[in-house]
Amino acid sequence: MAAIVSHMTLEQKIGQMTQPDIRWATPDDVRRYYIGSVLNGGGAWPDMHKHAPPAEWAALSSAYYQASMSTGMAYPVPIIWGVDAVHGHNNVYGATLFPHNIGLGAAHDPELVYRIGRSTARAVRATGITWAFAPTLAVVQDQRWGRTYESFSSDPALVRRYAESYVRGLQGDLNGAGDVLATAKHFLGDGGTFHGVDQGDTRVPLDQLIGVHAQGYYGALDAGVQTVMVSYSSWNESGEGDRGTRMHANRYLITEVLKQRLGFDGIVISDWNAIEQVPGCTRTHCPEAINAGIDIVMAPEDWRGFIRETIEDVRRGDIPMSRIDDAVSRIVRVKLRSGLFDADPGAVARQFGADAIADRALAREAVRRSLVLLKNNDGVLPLAAGSRVLVVGRGADNLSLQSGGWSRTWQGDENVNADFGVGESLLTAIRHTVGEANAVYSETGADVDVRGFDAVIAVLAETPYAEMRGDVAYPAPMAHSARYPQDLAVLDAVAGRGVPVVTILYSGRTVYANDLINRSDAFVAAWLPGSEAGGIADLLFRATGGAAPYDFTGRLPFAWPRTQCDSVGRGVRFPVGYGLSYARAQRVSQLAEDTRADCAH
Ligand code: GLC
Repeated sequence: MAAIVSHMTLEQKIGQMTQPDIRWATPDDVRRYYIGSVLNGGGAWPDMHKHAPPAEWAALSSAYYQASMSTGMAYPVPIIWGVDAVHGHNNVYGATLFPHNIGLGAAHDPELVYRIGRSTARAVRATGITWAFAPTLAVVQDQRWGRTYESFSSDPALVRRYAESYVRGLQGDLNGAGDVLATAKHFLGDGGTFHGVDQGDTRVPLDQLIGVHAQGYYGALDAGVQTVMVSYSSWNESGEGDRGTRMHANRYLITEVLKQRLGFDGIVISDWNAIEQVPGCTRTHCPEAINAGIDIVMAPEDWRGFIRETIEDVRRGDIPMSRIDDAVSRIVRVKLRSGLFDADPGAVARQFGADAIADRALAREAVRRSLVLLKNNDGVLPLAAGSRVLVVGRGADNLSLQSGGWSRTWQGDENVNADFGVGESLLTAIRHTVGEANAVYSETGADVDVRGFDAVIAVLAETPYAEMRGDVAYPAPMAHSARYPQDLAVLDAVAGRGVPVVTILYSGRTVYANDLINRSDAFVAAWLPGSEAGGIADLLFRATGGAAPYDFTGRLPFAWPRTQCDSVGRGVRFPVGYGLSYARAQRVSQLAEDTRADCAH
């Protein structure tokens, strides 16, 4: 490694530290500027072909790889491609989508998470990519945050156990054909911002930062994680003022704590244009971030300016060459460890079959294990196998609503069911179970006489979101029906008519739902199950002539709020660990309904 680095020019070193998005850098750019890494952000595909098959991904990977090996460097350094494979290989048409992390947290099963990591790594390698920007290790403290669903739990101990399992699943032996680099993100305290504001201010003392928000990193480091992504957020130890130090300029935590005290010898990468948020910086110029310990800068579009201005910084002495050499040494070290020097990942990908991006049985199992039964009065569930059911609600036949953000696109929107190339909606799964004629669908439930049915199944949902677009800004109430009144209207159209109502809620967070729960005889928190909603049908119906083939095992990974203004851990309707089952029934009485217009009063 030392020989490789010592033979590199300054331009070649800075090129290694630069990560453009594939939309703004061609293989020839990689060759000419010695670029060491690319990513495809959410909603980017080869040639912007949304339905690109794995072979097209692998071909582009080979093109980047061959370009990186044709730079004329004394010792060519292969490029590495990173992708947000955060619930399966979610950008890729035909790839199975696992439940988002909040649902995996409800399963309380690190071994399941290990298997999902293994499956995801195989899918990612089948497209010629060798780096996954996962897992998110946020320990969310306020479900107002638009990224709550990317968190496993508010319980630091669970996050630590999952971090280790997920990283082991993704990285395997590091250099196998089915192994990818994992990314512990976002360092540090992303899930603890004031009022859950995305990219906000985490106002906690050091002992809480370590005791709550850092626990996942201990698990990831124990598993040998090779990369860490820095958080947009700030750490404000005193809690004074409106913002502490941006994590992207926090040398104490990145270099002194993570690298020196905890001995992390892999790569620290910045987030998407995040360096521009450091006071005095722009997206093309931030010596403070590199001096803080960032080794690769994610500069998606303006990477040429970043290379030019950073070279100038080094020549002026604003960034010591020792820091550059440390960063490049870490990059080369990780690439050597991952076997990247040994073979073109695009060529390796061709050994996988087209089915390598699918793992529907595992995803369906994960869905079953993720579901939390909050209410089941009078044993309404499980329903008889041959039940005649009315299915209502906008989530019933919509793969986007059941998958959430980071699904084929960044926000998980702008998709129709045909854009997924795999999977089934809950309506389809119910029809497979009870027969086409026994499952009638009405999105609103209006003008339908429910008395002709054995039960109503209402599938309610949040509209997909990612990052800041999912924030519920304080003081808005955290009531689902405040943001989606059409879901309450559906229940009002079908409830109280002598036919049991089973409500399934797709949500990326725990929400105030007393009004919805009161109008339901059974209520299931389904989180964001991904492509395989059949796992939900598996728990709703008995097998023909027998008992239910499966029982609910999911338990809340976050507290369920009592009022519409309670964030995680304060007013609690159902505590972390709550979850009913057929074996353990419990009546839920009518709940007090909170109708405050906002949470400021
Ligand atoms: C986003 C996210 C980060 C993701 C990166 C690349 O802004 O914060 O989790 O890995 O950009 O898509």
